[in-house]
Amino acid sequence: MRVLHVAAEIFPLVKTGGLADVLGALPQALIGQGADVRLLLPGLPAIADAVLHQKTVCEIGPLFGAGRVTLRLGQMPYSDVPAYVVDAPYLYRRAGSPYQDGTGAEWADNLQRFALLGWVGAHLAAGELDAGWLPDVMHAHDWHAGMACAFMAAHPPTQAASVFTVHNLAYQGLFPSGDFPLLGLPSRFMAASALEYHQQLSFMKAGLKFAGRVTTVSPTYAREMATHEFGFGLDGVIRGRGGDVSGVLNGVDGEVWDPAKDTALAARYSAAQLSRKSLCKAALQAELGLATNPAALLFGVVSRLTSQKGLDLVLAALPALLRGDAQLALQGTGDPALEAAFVAAAKAHPAQVAVRIGYDEVFAHRLIGGADVILVPSRFEPCGLTQLYGLRYGTVPLVRRVGGLADTVVDATDDALATDHATGFTFDAATPAALEGAMQRAATLFKRTDPWQQLMLRGMAQDFSWSGAARQYMALYNAILPRDKG
Ligand code: ADP
Ligand code: GLC
Repeated sequence: MRVLHVAAEIFPLVKTGGLADVLGALPQALIGQGADVRLLLPGLPAIADAVLHQKTVCEIGPLFGAGRVTLRLGQMPYSDVPAYVVDAPYLYRRAGSPYQDGTGAEWADNLQRFALLGWVGAHLAAGELDAGWLPDVMHAHDWHAGMACAFMAAHPPTQAASVFTVHNLAYQGLFPSGDFPLLGLPSRFMAASALEYHQQLSFMKAGLKFAGRVTTVSPTYAREMATHEFGFGLDGVIRGRGGDVSGVLNGVDGEVWDPAKDTALAARYSAAQLSRKSLCKAALQAELGLATNPAALLFGVVSRLTSQKGLDLVLAALPALLRGDAQLALQGTGDPALEAAFVAAAKAHPAQVAVRIGYDEVFAHRLIGGADVILVPSRFEPCGLTQLYGLRYGTVPLVRRVGGLADTVVDATDDALATDHATGFTFDAATPAALEGAMQRAATLFKRTDPWQQLMLRGMAQDFSWSGAARQYMALYNAILPRDKG
């Protein structure tokens, strides 16, 4: 089974969120299940300069405004997974974010940049670019790769099946409808039944409409995204796909996130030496200038600061937290107003609140290893990875009961504690009061050493490895292959 994964991000080379973590781990896990997997990535500098042993597969020539487009094949550093790189310096060789310029504005030619990625995905799937490797499945991730599904449907006579995975419906890849001719697609694609979305073009809709199957990254989000509340205007399109939509929960890359091997931590620990985690907490408190008090419940946050993540609720709950001796350590970047509010809180209460604005992979490990609780109060959350990292690190998750958070954390009710099921704390309403209630429950249980330790250990014993997810994807691929290939 040959599977081509098309995506814009991959850990550790290019990462703006969990999408990169998924692409950094899932291909390897699929290889573990016997699949022959290759990646297709845009030639952003951090990718084009890092992929090893690159050889030219073909010159594609001028396309989407790029004078020169070359397809190269090499190998991912760190994992050996083969990776095709779309080398198009005019579109991709730029410093900064894959999606935005230095001022935070979307790159003006994102339509061309991600249409190219999709075009190459479709033509690779059709066997037109690399005669040596013909995929059975083209698997595209998020709007950045969504056009691969439309180009496959439009032109190349392809045998490959297609899968589109939604990682986040909030980002849809919308462009002016007047730019449609730039795509080179037949006019029937500019219709409400195709790419058209309220007088715009939607690359997310291209994936949702034209992929053979649609998946998302948790079973609960698969149901939620078909509702008006969570569908970001695309719930009708998703409902229209009926039984073609399913959820496969993400996993944790145990090579990257393992407290027993994690060199970022002040002390390595495991379930068998759980007391060593307190060294990580003390080191984190010292590093951040928080009171080095082992009895203070330390809440941690590692997050993009966007409205999705519900961190305004944490700000609103801060006065309640500050009335006791609890602490908050936050690492994040994003919305300037949220950044400023958290920085101000840290300045006003340096012994209890510490904030690091910015993106720092190594510090994220220290924060998750050192905190007692990882807070994820999201308004919506397709899967969420930091609560899974928390579980693995004995850092108890406290989450809003939505999306993948609902699928991965079992609330510490009396019943769940008594029956050995609880792994964290959940709350329902997206209100400061509901969050405060859950934080208070955590503070109460934290004072009882034994049940708290049981909670930590049960979390650490959960199996969120990628092999389970990879098996589910393999079953899905097998189900959609043309009969003679299955
Ligand atoms: P999302 O993809 O919506 O941002 P996830 O929980 O799926 O949410 O994934 C977020 C990933 O990004 C995790 O690996 C998390 O550790 C990481 N991350 C988020 N913000 C930061 C930050 N400021 N510094 C370091 N890592 C971060
Ligand atoms: C998205 C979602 C997040 C998910 C990640 C990886 O960024 O916001 O919930 O974990 O993709 O699938």
